Amino acid sequence: MQPPAIPGAAGLPLVGSALHYARGPLGFLEDTARRGDLVAMRFAQHRAWLVSDPAHVEQVLVKSAGSFMKDVFLRDLKRLLGEGLLTSEGAFWKRQRRLIQPAFHRDKIAGYGRTMVDHTVRMLDGWRDGTTIDLHSAMMSLTADIVTRALFGTDVDDMHEVADCLDVLMTRLADPLFTIFPTLGKLPLPSNRRFEAVAQRLDAIVRGFIAKRRAMGHPAQGDDLLAMLLNARDEDGSQMDDQTVRDEVLVLFLAGHETTALALSWTFYLLSENPDAARRLHAELDAVLGGRAPTLDDMPKLEFTGHVVRESMRLYPPAWALGRESTEAFDLGGHRFEKGSWMWMIPWTIHRDPRWYNEPLRFMPQRWEGDFQKSIPKFAYLPFGGGPRVCIGNQFAMMESVLLLATIAQRFALTTAPGQRIVPEPSVTLRFKHGLRMALTQRAGATA
Ligand code: HEM
Repeated sequence: MQPPAIPGAAGLPLVGSALHYARGPLGFLEDTARRGDLVAMRFAQHRAWLVSDPAHVEQVLVKSAGSFMKDVFLRDLKRLLGEGLLTSEGAFWKRQRRLIQPAFHRDKIAGYGRTMVDHTVRMLDGWRDGTTIDLHSAMMSLTADIVTRALFGTDVDDMHEVADCLDVLMTRLADPLFTIFPTLGKLPLPSNRRFEAVAQRLDAIVRGFIAKRRAMGHPAQGDDLLAMLLNARDEDGSQMDDQTVRDEVLVLFLAGHETTALALSWTFYLLSENPDAARRLHAELDAVLGGRAPTLDDMPKLEFTGHVVRESMRLYPPAWALGRESTEAFDLGGHRFEKGSWMWMIPWTIHRDPRWYNEPLRFMPQRWEGDFQKSIPKFAYLPFGGGPRVCIGNQFAMMESVLLLATIAQRFALTTAPGQRIVPEPSVTLRFKHGLRMALTQRAGATA
């Protein structure tokens, strides 16, 4: 039997869907997903398919993973991130993943729990009742400190400048117009010159940071990830050069802080909009912790806290879009696709599909109680992706999100500041277009 024809996305002659996309990527993708489980899109001369059936998503990410590589948008990030774990492919990626994986073993991550809570408590000691803060910046700075301390074994002041540089560069690299029309990036525009200058500064800081550690002795001291990278040897005895170490440091720093900062920021925004959920969260924290800072041992008892994080990442997945390009022809849903096909899997739309989520637009942490997750298809929820390229930091991130949420929410209730506009901005990650200012109210009984 012939499979049904693949429907097409809204578009115009010549440009295809490029203008529709540019006007609002999330709205465009929602409209496209409503047209079918597999929808054809065209952006100028490039064709792409939106894949929304969780079984098809599983096929692309897991079962047929060997027939795909990261798509051109991610490959573009190589200009910034080089051959780091997020962007590299093939045998090189496999070797690096094997090498870095031990830093993320369950036992190893358990040791980071204390660092996470200590840094958060230090941040909270500077918060004052009745003030309004830029919460997203506070979360970015906190998670940058934590990942630097946990993975690189040090508090590096320069890492804040690294974070600022990355912010500038990622915003520009995330603009699909520069990928679809690459000549734009080569024009002598002030924005292009600024891009190059910031990229050079970033490179210099990270290389300086590596040189400092190398200068402290050989083999590199410490049991952190940086020492592991510097000391690792191939079977032939060769070591990673500075360029490879630089690429991995940048990727882990970038991937390791902005996503978690966003997950927490969206969570506090959602709690502010949903006072019943906030009340239930506070009740759980008071009952389990009774005013003391959380530890890793509390995690199993902080059940609702975990559901709050899961539900927040459902509605506002920090990694809102995943893309792959096929390296050979393949079959999906009864259709044949050529080598070079772009396949897009969009957690933003999949997580809002009423087939899997009752009242999908409502924030309902309690939906995750009991066996709910087992009752939906595996790839109906994919905040961390899946298959061989699944997020290496997923357990680190879940632990960090739950511990930070518990530590902060125990001491402060946060309310979105009056007049704050909330508009999601789908860059590489799902950001806040107008920032997130929140008012702090110290909770009764909490110590300042
Ligand atoms: C809430 C927080 C996080 C979210 C939502 C998230 C999401 C993701 C997703 C969806 C991918 C797969 C991308 C793809 O398949 O194209 C990914 C990959 C990756 N993530 Fe995360 N991540 C988070 C936190 C972290 C943390 C804390 C670290 C490190 C400390 C990290 C490091 C990485 C790396 C290195 C990769 C590339 C892995 C590979 O291709 O081998 N992430 N992340």
